[in-house]
Amino acid sequence: MKSPKPCARSISAVPRLITVRVGVLSGGGDCPGLNAVIRALVRKAERVHGDEVVGFLDAWDGVLTRRTVALNVEAMRGTLPRGGTVLGTRRGSPFDHDNGVEQVRSTMSDMGLDGLIVIGGNGSLSVAHLLHAEHGIPVVGIPKTIDNDIEGTDLTFGFTTAVQIATDAIDRLHTTAESHDRVMVVEVMGRHAGWIATHAGIAGGATVVLIPEHPFDIDQVCQRLVRRHSRGRFASIVVVAEGAVPVEGSIEMADPEVDRFGHQRLGGIGNLVAAEIGRRTGFETRPVLLGHVQRGGTPTAFDRVLSTRFGVAAIDAVHDGAWGQMVALHGDDIVTVDLATAAGRSRPVDMSLFHDVAEIFFA
Ligand code: F6P
Repeated sequence: MKSPKPCARSISAVPRLITVRVGVLSGGGDCPGLNAVIRALVRKAERVHGDEVVGFLDAWDGVLTRRTVALNVEAMRGTLPRGGTVLGTRRGSPFDHDNGVEQVRSTMSDMGLDGLIVIGGNGSLSVAHLLHAEHGIPVVGIPKTIDNDIEGTDLTFGFTTAVQIATDAIDRLHTTAESHDRVMVVEVMGRHAGWIATHAGIAGGATVVLIPEHPFDIDQVCQRLVRRHSRGRFASIVVVAEGAVPVEGSIEMADPEVDRFGHQRLGGIGNLVAAEIGRRTGFETRPVLLGHVQRGGTPTAFDRVLSTRFGVAAIDAVHDGAWGQMVALHGDDIVTVDLATAAGRSRPVDMSLFHDVAEIFFA
């Protein structure tokens, strides 16, 4: 793995480009802060570098079918606080199509593009890495996902927004749980990483948090709830990450559904956990699946700032000829790292945060 390069504007051995014409796309699931990233890179591109930015609609579909929109400061006005993405997004990649890579290449050359900026999660960044490493296509990546599971960056934008939404929901569920003496099981997103669950669990004062990195024993979960109830605390919040898994043999799980790209479709473990808790303890238990509400709406101030810093750094990286790199947050610094760092991996939650902090508050 190559070491990170600080984004001070002095990286390059490659000659700097004076002005560029660059394409931008957002891939994978949407995420609060996408518009803020696009707005920032467009602003710096147009006002500082004198560049032209072309937006591709609906991710790689727009590149393959040449559906574009001109992006400029005027077009991006008012988008900083808006959730979603003005470009639209899709799952899928050029590798799903015969000659997909050649189509990307010909779109770029016919449109006179110097490079592509790909804003995406694990899937889109892996595609960007392959396009650059194996096909020589000039790309710069920007890590995006509410799941916060991208290797090479300390944080992705959208994560703190999802955590805030989940925490707000947990706060509300506490009062209804208390009124009815119920156990509320709150399922949050995150794919195979427990970042959202751990942070929202700590912030929301959960009774117990179940994450994919630490298979759960349903008997132990029930014992904790019974112990808590025996102390006269009847309302409990169980936060379960959508990718959480029971220890083998403890709960019967259905075979996972897989989407057309071969990704496991997650969601629903909260129903199963709630049913098991109710059956084993006799406590009235309700599942709440937060789902896509965690991806919607306005980004937190933190995510707006991170998105803005990523957008500015990405267009600078293009000017530095930092192809095959993605912008990243290391500590307080924005750096660039090789896209290979992120490709094909999922960054697990920091287990010391889980064991040394979150668990201290479990019943
Ligand atoms: O990666 C973001 C994410 O929201 C995951 O947390 C979740 O598993 C998945 O996307 C849901 O995908 P879709 O919007 O395709 O249902």
